[in-house]
Amino acid sequence: MKNEENKIGLFWGTDTGMTEEIVTVLVEMIGADKVATYNVFDNPKEQLEQYEYLILGLSTWYDGELQSDWEEFHDNGGFQDIDFSGKKVALFGLGDQEGYDEYFIDGVGIIGDIVLQNGGEIFGKWSTEGYEYTQSKAEKEKGQFLGLAIDEDNQPSQTDERLEQWVAQLKEEGFLK
Ligand SMILES: Cc1cc2nc3c(=O)[nH]c(=O)nc-3n(C[C@H](O)[C@H](O)[C@H](O)COP(=O)(O)O)c2cc1C
Repeated sequence: MKNEENKIGLFWGTDTGMTEEIVTVLVEMIGADKVATYNVFDNPKEQLEQYEYLILGLSTWYDGELQSDWEEFHDNGGFQDIDFSGKKVALFGLGDQEGYDEYFIDGVGIIGDIVLQNGGEIFGKWSTEGYEYTQSKAEKEKGQFLGLAIDEDNQPSQTDERLEQWVAQLKEEGFLK
């Protein structure tokens, strides 16, 4: 089943509002008419299942754990049971590469793993160049994160440019029109 308007579904969760701010910028860049946004707090499994094109946004907390609403969605909300086959998924994660250098954007790795295990295809993988950290579950292949890494704690001045580059990359990859 496809959503009627053929939009992209953007699902996000936040603890202190940083991810939500990124969502606002991203929606503006992509075009508000092309994307529908959902707070994962509302446990939107059924809504998520309607979309062929998905963007998933989340921060990482407490030494490599999922943001609290994503954690609830993941552990109790059925996220792990979603059939991602035929779905095209782009991920972005917020994290702190200096304060949590052994767990930098781990949430992207945790969620991305499920997307892949359950048959989804991932777009918008991102070079690890320009980041300094020790370890990340999001770095599945050497030198590449499973999704865009945003660090508002240490590199806020790079965020807009990273988002613009990522959107351009998603267009090149055919994920965005
Ligand atoms: C107590 C605490 C734990 C954190 N743990 C991690 C972590 O393990 N990995 C990481 O990359 N960032 C970690 N961060 C950084 C947050 O992910 C980052 O500040 C992010 O921008 C918060 O986004 P949000 O407000 O949307 O939740 C942590 C921050 C705090 C305050």
